[in-house]
Amino acid sequence: MSGRKKVAVLISGRGSNMSALIEAAKEEKFPVDISLVISNQPTAKGLETARSHGIEAVAIDHAEFETRETFEQELHKTLVSRDIEMVACAGFMRKLTASFTRNWEGRMINIHPSLLPKYKGLNTHQRALDAGDEEHGCTVHYVTAELDSGPVIMQASVPILKGDTADDLAARVLTEEHRIFPLALARVAEDLAGQ
Ligand code: GRF
Repeated sequence: MSGRKKVAVLISGRGSNMSALIEAAKEEKFPVDISLVISNQPTAKGLETARSHGIEAVAIDHAEFETRETFEQELHKTLVSRDIEMVACAGFMRKLTASFTRNWEGRMINIHPSLLPKYKGLNTHQRALDAGDEEHGCTVHYVTAELDSGPVIMQASVPILKGDTADDLAARVLTEEHRIFPLALARVAEDLAGQ
């Protein structure tokens, strides 16, 4: 299908959300082509998974760069060199500076495992349990310079059940992440295509 948006997925690890996007993009009607996967961790399992689907997968190891800015310059250069139009952060564990996010404003989204604005940052499942919450969930949002704070695109909630461990809750939330991330990506791609 012509007119599909060229999307890069940024990962740092296992890449199950990336896989959900790749599977969704196999549908002819999905408005996105997953063209590139980049990991800041060279050992990320998701790189191999992407390659097994015939997708170019590149490691850009942040540890090899002196500063956050030089790492981001390489990231940006790589995205631009592949004509990437949108970026999906899927378990990408690097904070991004304003000079990077500005370039991708309205075109970069992230999946976060909490019902934002609750529990920005790490250990969201344990924090929801510790707070005695009755529900938890995940959020897809636009990426801005402030961590986990950009406009919300889509959310899904799950119940917190008696006796849940953080792992139980993470698994329940992850199922919803895999469901809504492709939906949100498609919505943003369609909005951009209509502009
Ligand atoms: C997901 O829970 C995501 O929301 C969070 O990190 C996890 C990444 O998992 N930011 P995966 O790499 O997509 O399997």
